[in-house]
Amino acid sequence: MEKIVLAYSGGLDTTCIIPWLKEKYGARVVAFCALLGESEDTEALRERARKAGADEFYFRDLTGEFINDYAFPALRAGAVYEDSYLLATALARPLIASWQVRIAGETGADAVAHGCTGKGNDQVRFEVTTGALDSSLKVLAPLRNWELTSREEELEYLRERGLSIDDRGGGKYSIDRNLWGISVECGELEDPWREPPRDSYIIVTPVEETPDEPQEVTLLFRNGNPAALDGEELEGPELVRRLNTIAGAHGVGRVDMVENRVVGIKSREVYESPAATVLFSALRALESIVLEKELVLNKRKLAIEYGRLVYEGKWFSPLREAIQNFSDTSAERLTGEVRVKLFKGRAVVTGRRSPRSAYVEELATYTEKDVFSHDAAEGFIELWGLPLRTWGGGKDDS
Ligand code: ARG
Repeated sequence: MEKIVLAYSGGLDTTCIIPWLKEKYGARVVAFCALLGESEDTEALRERARKAGADEFYFRDLTGEFINDYAFPALRAGAVYEDSYLLATALARPLIASWQVRIAGETGADAVAHGCTGKGNDQVRFEVTTGALDSSLKVLAPLRNWELTSREEELEYLRERGLSIDDRGGGKYSIDRNLWGISVECGELEDPWREPPRDSYIIVTPVEETPDEPQEVTLLFRNGNPAALDGEELEGPELVRRLNTIAGAHGVGRVDMVENRVVGIKSREVYESPAATVLFSALRALESIVLEKELVLNKRKLAIEYGRLVYEGKWFSPLREAIQNFSDTSAERLTGEVRVKLFKGRAVVTGRRSPRSAYVEELATYTEKDVFSHDAAEGFIELWGLPLRTWGGGKDDS
């Protein structure tokens, strides 16, 4: 190993990894820090990495790429894991890993490293992505096999090397955060019977504390992509940022679930993704007036597969890409507006319209404007029910 590109967060684990890699392999370490919509003090990160011994430091603001090329495609596909998780963390990993691979190429590195533990999904996502993009790179996961077993030991390890860093992590929970959503786990949440404590709320307000007046937002979609909020055209990240604030204040977007991890463990997770939650409901409402019946049905089935692939680290896979193509083709007509009412933790669609709508009021109506062919219904039912009439026929054959 000559040079290693480390996915660096600035936290205690990845800071410790820098000297550890250098000592263990005698390699040069490139610390790579990705921004996914949260503000970061770049200079403080650079300084921290340098102090820990990083030979090079790379910083990339990937917020736009994350929202436009990962989050929105997953939205168009309707991807959800186990009915609830909107995949914010899972979508971020392949993006970060793809940039690690890229930077490895640019800096002539022969290995990449990450700070994930051996029990989670993130290690799988990082490593499967790296393998899919450049199988010649070695992947190192120090947390899986180093001798440091607690935060205290990690701090001591740094102290022995003359490095004292403020342990700004080490909170009650393990939190992963980006603009699409926040994942909260560990601590008191490990007891699935226990209600998530007040301090596990980050950008979503507990329903008990939300306003007593509802708020309505109007979303415009173009080809399945969010394009405007309340009549104002916005870039993806800005739209998501504003919608997070508005919906989060009404308690929308909290999920409390026990999920099945790739490695076989069941784990209790709390998620916050207010904007994504509203956008998912709104896009479904738009689909309901635009898409043809069979298309919706099959899109739903494929969305389950797509969600599972993303969760399991297979973003860069032929199946995910094929389902993406299917979803994107069906999303071509998804242009229109949806009105959503936010109130006490719920996002309720109150209106939808589209220039591509397939909803025909003259067919649906029960008034005199009706043009539906009632005679045809009679013949239709005659044939539709034929198999069941010949099967049972009302005869008692017991
Ligand atoms: N269980 C979620 C997932 O697999 C969240 C992982 C959160 N990661 C973290 N480092 N806290 O996507």
